[in-house]
Amino acid sequence: MSTPLKIAVAGLGTVGAGTLKLLAENADILRMRCGRAIDVVAVSARERGKDRGVDLSGVKWVDDPLALLDCGADVIVELMGGSEGAARALVEGALAKGTHVVSANKALIAHHGLALAKLAEDNHAVLAFEAAVAGGIPIIQSLRDGLGANRFSRIAGILNGTGNYILTTMQKQGRDFDDVLAEAQALGYAEADPSFDVDGIDAAHKLAILTSLAYGVPVDIASVHIEGIRSISAADITHARELGYRIKLLGITEMTSAGVLQRVHPCLVREAAPIAAIDGAFNAIHLEGNAVGRVLLEGAGAGAGPTASSVVADILQIARGAHYYPFTVKSSDMKAVKHAAIADMTSRYYLRLSVKDEPGVLAQITAIFAKAGISVQSLIQHDHTPDTPARIVMTTHDTKESAMQQALQQIASLATVLEAPQMIRMESL
Ligand SMILES: NC(=O)c1ccc[n+]([C@@H]2O[C@H](COP(=O)([O-])OP(=O)(O)OC[C@H]3O[C@@H](n4cnc5c(N)ncnc54)[C@H](OP(=O)(O)O)[C@@H]3O)[C@@H](O)[C@H]2O)c1
Repeated sequence: MSTPLKIAVAGLGTVGAGTLKLLAENADILRMRCGRAIDVVAVSARERGKDRGVDLSGVKWVDDPLALLDCGADVIVELMGGSEGAARALVEGALAKGTHVVSANKALIAHHGLALAKLAEDNHAVLAFEAAVAGGIPIIQSLRDGLGANRFSRIAGILNGTGNYILTTMQKQGRDFDDVLAEAQALGYAEADPSFDVDGIDAAHKLAILTSLAYGVPVDIASVHIEGIRSISAADITHARELGYRIKLLGITEMTSAGVLQRVHPCLVREAAPIAAIDGAFNAIHLEGNAVGRVLLEGAGAGAGPTASSVVADILQIARGAHYYPFTVKSSDMKAVKHAAIADMTSRYYLRLSVKDEPGVLAQITAIFAKAGISVQSLIQHDHTPDTPARIVMTTHDTKESAMQQALQQIASLATVLEAPQMIRMESL
């Protein structure tokens, strides 16, 4: 057997403690799979006395995570989180001295991925971050290795478990967003500040990383169009179901004639599409490759065990001596591509309008659509009581987003339209 691989772990929270547990529980099988032992030589976290449910006897403790750089480790495992501060300093420090890095930190990779990849390559170190995207789903290894022969036309994923849990609960229980979010917070499924999850930011971090891996372009979080799920109502979910659709928060990256288009927003997807069936806190990624066709990967996107599974998979690869560019292609070969704007995309649209129940309202709306060249596919006017506004639900044929936005502005300004129109894009998967 070769010499043990020495690792130092920064961060002993959900993922850090989960990683140490998994390394201990599966030590025998891991040793057989990489031909050497994996030894934890040092750890760091903020609070030394905290019980983390793992045996730390014989492991060096350092208060300052940067001191892990001097513990003789072959690999630094960064599981603290945050795109700046200690996490960034530790990862940069390790790579600068040629020490391999494994991280689960999507914010760090989304914001500094290219610079960190360059640093890793210049110093012949591995920078691996399988756990940063979709927790336990081996999406990065799949893009790099298993599906590495393909050109990808589109990748669409449920990349945030909390958002999917909220939408699924709204759908199953007919409840509204605020109500389900409050319950998810009380149960500890959603953070006290839920904006990362429900406003699409977490999904955007992961999508920007996927785009770089799929298309060999620099990570560009700033060009992701981001919309969250706060505006989705129980009524939208019911109407979508009546039309044969489910509402999912998707992160979508695709190569269009205008460039790479990255977007995170709620979508109506056909009930029969495999991704529509992904319920609760699960993640899923739908890939379209020119050789393989369609592939759907599904699994737990968060949690101690699933995330540790990905962290340890990266450690295993390093223990085997694998060496690869962090984003699959060498950072100096990455081409800065044009990013397409969402205004240029074409989609079908679902619209929900609350209007006064009086003659001529529908004619005003259809006149705006006709002028904008928007063709309506279906239109349902729902029954209403004298105290509630009339509700119109429409779907369109393929329409340019810029034309739809212009039409929506005009519709919103009609005196007969009582609320801002609800628009949700329809994605065919
Ligand atoms: N949780 C998941 O399911 C999941 C899934 C995928 C990716 N991730 C990513 O994994 C990383 C860790 O997430 P987590 O959920 O495990 O977080 P967590 O439970 O909050 O744990 C963070 C750990 O880092 C330590 N820490 C934070 N700042 C530190 C500092 N300045 N110096 C020393 N130690 C510090 C904390 O110490 P104390 O314990 O002493 O406070 C804690 O042990 C994040 O990048 C996250 O985005 C998490």
